Amino acid sequence: MFVDPFGRAITYFRISLTDRCNLRCVYCMPKEGVQLQSRTEQLSVEEIVRVVETAARGGVRRVRLTGGEPLIHPHVVEIVRRIASIPNIEDVSLTTNAMLLERLAQPLAEAGLKRINVSLDSLNPDKFKRITRGGEIDRVWRGIAAAERANLAPIKLNTVIVRGLNSDELSAFARLTIANEWHVRFIEVMPIGNAQDWGEGFPAPAERYVSVQEMKRRLSTCNLYPVSSPISNGPARTFRIPNGLGTVGFISPLGEHFCEHCNRLRLTSDGKLRSCLVLSNEVSLRESARNGQPLEKFFEQAIAQKPEYHDMLVSTPAGSQRSMSQIGG
Ligand code: GTP
Ligand code: 5AD
Ligand code: SF4
Repeated sequence: MFVDPFGRAITYFRISLTDRCNLRCVYCMPKEGVQLQSRTEQLSVEEIVRVVETAARGGVRRVRLTGGEPLIHPHVVEIVRRIASIPNIEDVSLTTNAMLLERLAQPLAEAGLKRINVSLDSLNPDKFKRITRGGEIDRVWRGIAAAERANLAPIKLNTVIVRGLNSDELSAFARLTIANEWHVRFIEVMPIGNAQDWGEGFPAPAERYVSVQEMKRRLSTCNLYPVSSPISNGPARTFRIPNGLGTVGFISPLGEHFCEHCNRLRLTSDGKLRSCLVLSNEVSLRESARNGQPLEKFFEQAIAQKPEYHDMLVSTPAGSQRSMSQIGG
C-alpha cells in the first residue's frame, strides 16, 4: 500500500489527460496560451492504463480525470472505460468546463464514469464569456442537463471566487442549490502560474483573493448549516440552505488548507508523477511506461517526496513551473 512519510494513505489519483483547453480562463491560463506539449510527449491510452493498474495495486481507489480540458482528448470515453474496468477502482470522475459535455455525457456514463465536477464562475453570460475568454454559458447548461439525464451524480459546480469579478454572485450561486440537487463549491483563488496581468478591466493581483471566511460572512443571510459532503475526496467543507436540495461547499487551499488529510497523487499528461499541486517536484515514468517496465518504483519515489503541507500564501505565488491548466487543479 502507498503510504507517504507522514502516514497518509494515497488512495486518490488525479490524471491530467491533456494540457490543452478550449477556453482560456483568466486565472488559469494567459491569453496567448502556454507552451504545449507535443503529441509524442503525451502518454498513450495503453500507457495511462498501465500507470493506473500500478496505482490500483498500490491502493488507489478513486481516479479523477482533469486537463486542460479532459473532454477534448480524442479517446476520453475509451480511457474512462479502460480505467473503470481496472480491479479495485471504485470511482472514476472528471472535472470539466462542460463545453463538450452535452454530446459526451451519455457515452461517458455508459463507459463507467460516475460523476462530474463542472467549472462555472459566473451566471451572467457576458461575464462568463469575459472570464473564460470566449465561452458560451448556454453550452454549460446544456451539458449539465445532459449529465443529469445520464445519471452522472452528484453534480458539483466549481466556482473560483475573485474579488471584483464574481464576488457579487456568491448568493446567486448558493441559491441554485435550493431547487437543484447540485453541489456548488466556492474556491479560493490560488496564486499558481497566474500572477500576470489578466487584461483590461480585471482586478490586480493584490485585490483578487477572497478568503472562505469572508465568503461565509457574505452568505450569512442564507442560514447555512453544516452537513456531510456528498461523495468526495477531501477538500470541500459542506453546508446546506434550509430545505435546499443541493449543498454549498467551500474549498480553502490557502486560508484553511487540507494538507493534513491529503490522499492524492497527480499524473501529468506527459507522464510525470507530481506529489503535490503546489510543489514543482516531479518523477517521470514515461519511458518505462512506454517500454512496458514495472512502474512501482516511480510511485514510491513520488510519494516519498510528498510534503507535509504547502507553504503557498496569497502574497507568495507558488514556485510551480506549470500553470494550473498543465496540472489539472
Ligand atoms: P471530489 O472531492 O472528488 O469531488 O474532487 P475535488 O473537489 O478534489 O476536485 P476538483 O477537480 O473539482 O477540484 C476542486 C478545487 O480544489 C480546484 O480548484 C482544485 O484546484 C482544488 N484542489 C484539488 N485538489 C487539491 C489539492 O490537492 N491541493 C490543493 N491545494 N487544492 C486542490
Ligand atoms: N485557483 C483555484 N482554482 C483554480 N482552478 C483553476 N485555476 C485555479 C486557481 N488558480 C480550478 C478550476 C477547476 C479546477 C480543476 O481548478 O476552476 O474547477
Ligand atoms: Fe496535498 Fe499539496 Fe494539495 Fe496540500 S497542496 S492537499 S499537500 S497536494
